[in-house]
Parts: sequence; C-alpha cells; structure tokens
Amino acid sequence: MCGIIGYIGRREAAPLLLNGLKRLEYRGYDSAGMAVLNGSMKMLKKKGSVSNLEELLNVSGTVMLGATVGIAHTRWATHGDPSDRNAHPHMNVSDDIALIHNGIIENYSTLKQELMAEGYEFESDTDSEVLVHLIDRIWKNDLALGLEGSVRHALRHVDGAYGICVVSSREPDKIVVARKGSPLVIGLGDGEFFIASDAAPIVEHTNKVVYLSDGEMAVVTRDNYTVKTIENVEQQKRVTELDFSLEKIEKGGFEHFMLKEIFEQPEVMRDVMRGRVRVEEGLVQLGGIHDYLDRLKQAKRIVICACGTSWHAGLIGEYLIEEFARIPVEVDYASEFRYRNPIVSADDVVIVISQSGETADTLAALRLAKEKGAMVMGICNVVGSTIPRETLCGMYTHAGPEVGVASTKAFTAQVIVLFMLAMALSKGRTISHEEIRLNLRELADVPDKVARILEQNDAIKEIAVKLKDARNALYLGRGYNFPVALEGALKLKEISYIHAEGYPAAEMKHGPIALIDEDMPVIVIATRDNTYAKILSNIEEVRSRKGRVIAIASEGDREIERLTKDVIYIPQASAAVLPLLTVIPLQLLSYHVATLRGCNVDRPRNLAKSVTVE
Ligand code: M6R
Repeated sequence: MCGIIGYIGRREAAPLLLNGLKRLEYRGYDSAGMAVLNGSMKMLKKKGSVSNLEELLNVSGTVMLGATVGIAHTRWATHGDPSDRNAHPHMNVSDDIALIHNGIIENYSTLKQELMAEGYEFESDTDSEVLVHLIDRIWKNDLALGLEGSVRHALRHVDGAYGICVVSSREPDKIVVARKGSPLVIGLGDGEFFIASDAAPIVEHTNKVVYLSDGEMAVVTRDNYTVKTIENVEQQKRVTELDFSLEKIEKGGFEHFMLKEIFEQPEVMRDVMRGRVRVEEGLVQLGGIHDYLDRLKQAKRIVICACGTSWHAGLIGEYLIEEFARIPVEVDYASEFRYRNPIVSADDVVIVISQSGETADTLAALRLAKEKGAMVMGICNVVGSTIPRETLCGMYTHAGPEVGVASTKAFTAQVIVLFMLAMALSKGRTISHEEIRLNLRELADVPDKVARILEQNDAIKEIAVKLKDARNALYLGRGYNFPVALEGALKLKEISYIHAEGYPAAEMKHGPIALIDEDMPVIVIATRDNTYAKILSNIEEVRSRKGRVIAIASEGDREIERLTKDVIYIPQASAAVLPLLTVIPLQLLSYHVATLRGCNVDRPRNLAKSVTVE
C-alpha cells in the first residue's frame, strides 16, 4: 500500500526523502513524489518506480537544494489510474500547501462537488486531492486557524481512513500529520524528526519512535513535537525503542509476506467495504458499476472467468449470486473458455476476476467475450492494470499489494466484492430490504470474527506439525465451503509441495474414498449449516478407514470433538459469509506446514505471482 516519509531537521531533505522512499518500495506502489520547502514549495512527482523520480531529481533537483523540511510518498492507486498527475503530493491552487495521503476518503465525491461549485479546480482523479483544497478553503476563511487548525477542521468533514502529512510555505517550519485507520509513526532524532507510514525508512536514522493512535494529530517542528486528538486534547505519548531488523519491519514484523498478508485481512476486509456498505440502511454503493447496474440485473446469464484462486472466488460468487439475485451463473476457467468456442451473446454479462489484472488467459477470455458482444465487467486488485482498462465497468478489491505468490488477502477481498455485488443485484428484485440488511450485518461482522480466528495461530501451528510429513491430503467441504476446500488444497500444494485435492464432501464416495487410509489426512470443513449432519457422516466414513481428520467447525460444537481431536473453531456466522471465515485456518495451516518443511513460502518453486503467458 502507499508509503509516507516526512523529514524536518537540519540536513538536506530531498536525498533523505528519496532514500526513505526506496525503503518503502517493498510495500508496492505505482508512482512516487516529494515536496520540500526552501523559501517556497518545490514539488516533483512521477509515475513508475522511485528510480524514475530519482532521474527527475538528478535533472531538476537543484531547485530543492537547501530544503530541510519535506514530505514524500509512494502511491498505490485506489482512485484514478497510476499517472504523474495522480501521484502525491497534491497541492492547493496557490501552490503553498502540499499534502500526501494514505487511505481512502469515502465522501470525497460529495466534498469534491462542493469545492468545485466554489471554483476549486482539480488536477487529479484522486480522493486525496479534496483534502488539500478543503484545508485551503478553511484556512482562507479563518486565517487565525493556521495550518494545524485548518487541518483539524478539514478532518472533521472527512469520512474514511487517512494517514496524512501536510506542509505549507506559509508556516515553513512544521509538518502537520494525522491518522485514522492508516498507520503513522514519528521517528525522534537529534534535532530532527522523521514521519513515516512504518518504521522501515526511519530505522537507519533512529530507533526511538512514537506511534500515533487513530484520531490523533501531531505538529512536528525541528525541536519538538506535540500530539493532540483531532478534538484538540493534548496527549502524552510513550516513546518506543525499535529492536527489529529492517527486513522484519518491511514484513510488518512477520517472518514472511504471506503471513503478514494473512494477518492483514481484518483491516483489508474493512477497506474493501469502506464507503460501499451501509448496514443500517441496507445499502450497497458500488461506484464502479453504478451506471451499469440495471443492465447487470437484466442479464440472462452471468459467466465468471478467472484462474487459480480467483476462479475459486468466482465459484463462491456463483453460489452468492444464484442464491440471492436468482440470476443463472456459470464459472469457467479462463483458459478453457477462451478455446472452447463458448456460447456467449449480448444478453450475457461476463465477469473476469483477477488479482493482478494481467493474467494472460483471463485477459484473452475478456477479449473473446467482448468480441462476442457480451458486457464485460472486471473485479481486480491492481488499479490501472490491463484488465480494468479493457472492461466496460468493474470494481477494485482495494486489498493493497499482495507480495506473497500464494494469494490470501486478495481472495477474501474478491469474495467480499462478489458478496456486495450479489446484494446490489438482489436489491429491489429478489430479496427484501430486511434480508439485505441482515446479510450486510453478517458481512460487516466478518473482520472482527477473522481477527478472532487469527488468535488461534499457535494452535493451528500445532496441528500443522501433524500434517507436515504427509504426502497427500484431501480437503472436503459442501455448499459455500466447497470452493474453500478447493482453495485450501491449492494453498497447501503450491507452498508446501504436498499433493492435495479438494472435493465436495459428498463426492468422496464416488472415488476419492479409495485413497483413504492412515496416511491420508482429510481436512473437513464441518460448520453448522444445512449440510452439517451429512458432513459428520463423511467424517465417520473417513474414520472407519483410519483416515486422520482435521476439522474446521463452528464455535460451541462439542459433537465434533467426539470424532477428532484436531478441531479449529470459527465463530458462528450465516452460511453465505462462511467462506470468509473457514478459509483463514486453511491459509494458516498451509503456511505453517510449508515453513515447517523449510519451503520458501513467499516464492514457491515454479510459480509466478502474475501469469502473463499461456
Ligand atoms: O492475478 P490473478 O488473480 O489473475 O491470478 C490467478 C492465479 O494465477 C492465481 O490466483 C494463482 O492461482 C495463485 N498462485 C494462487 O495462490
């Protein structure tokens, strides 16, 4: 996700900021920029890598000489394509306030309209730019507020998540920062301070840091810093001493990116829903498809095309859309769809799902569907990638960069997007307002429930010890949990190299049961839903053939303990949101099995993060 670095002190700011940006590169980004103050504001920003910005600095950087205060940013696009003009910092019209922002401003569109009505001109498509104009407007209307007061007042108008740094040539000896939902840390040097989105760019300068909490602001000068709440109440902050290595900080303190990404899921899930789900009103607002929703609702059929994990998300989408919106759905491997001369017409909607937005087979399926006249919609994570550029409409998953080759947070983000889509397609047609509200309540409760599952990490690791020497594994699930069984098996095979297969539990007796003996671990998703009794029978069948069972069960289920000692509990939830919960222990199980076997979980052999060739 986006990265922030700010500096105020006595040294040249630009090279320090550039170095800080390099330290933030691991987070993934699509453009970079910086603004410094040396009498007036100087700003440079560029699409692409930090080295592009460095080249620009080499050519035009002399204008930045002498500046000892500045802010810099690596952007990961959420609103507006990766481009020079969408890169941060953003400036006000008189070029004397510059701002960088991590997070999402949910009500940016309303604020933007208000500001435009007053004559403010926007240079970018970002949500972030509204903030700088808002600060400008507030400051102009009440000069006594100064930079700090204007930022404080502006933030009162904002819904959403932010970590911001703001500088102004009108008050050149300070940086004003604020956080809500997006981390910010202040590094305390000797006569200098650093501000950053994580400790990675700070650790080489100082190991003393202060972490801002949500709802706090700080004013940082060369000699001091003060922290207050956004309501202007002064806060006493504890200074923390960092004792991590840079490598560990880059992974958020985790051993691997995959584990970090698994643990990010509660936060990512909230980001996916941010500004889109209004539970009490039973409302889902999906900006990217808003203008096409009626056409989507009228589709005779929806065809979902994807590969790998995204295909599994598509299967869950099929269950959701058919159950709630009652539109027939087919899910195809993109690689099959593109070569089997499928029947597709203008009455169909084809949804392509891809984390990277660059998968060759998915892209080819998209192009074929377009050729055949279907309306094509995308669900992608990487903003501005090829798939969203070629689809008529779509939704971004907002999961942030996924570095681990094994997809985890992108999968759960895709499922949430499909859930929201199913609700939007059902509204006013197939289910009542109250049912939508209840479903959205269930969805909104998922992040907290996922956080509770993650607390069982150590217990899951103990179960992984029992699985680590297996040569094969079978994953069983039914209903919404069948695609999760497929995903669990894929996770295990791709990172631990143990052969694993996923099956709908009832299919076991049609073949796979022949494989079961004491050497075959069977991971059964046995949550309390309408197929629970049948799944218990499957477990009995496995046990009577001496198969070892690991169960994923609902909290409070004591019956399951009669059948196996290895049970991972997940909180109670409605069937439609279960995949978002049951997949979490399976991700952790695969991760631990793989690390216990000494595998490189972030870069498994023979696999690429983005499969751009056939
Ligand atoms: O970027 P995409 O979602 O289009 O990628 C599709 C698959 O290549 C991807 O999901 C792959 O299966 C992952 N390694 C799964 O963890």
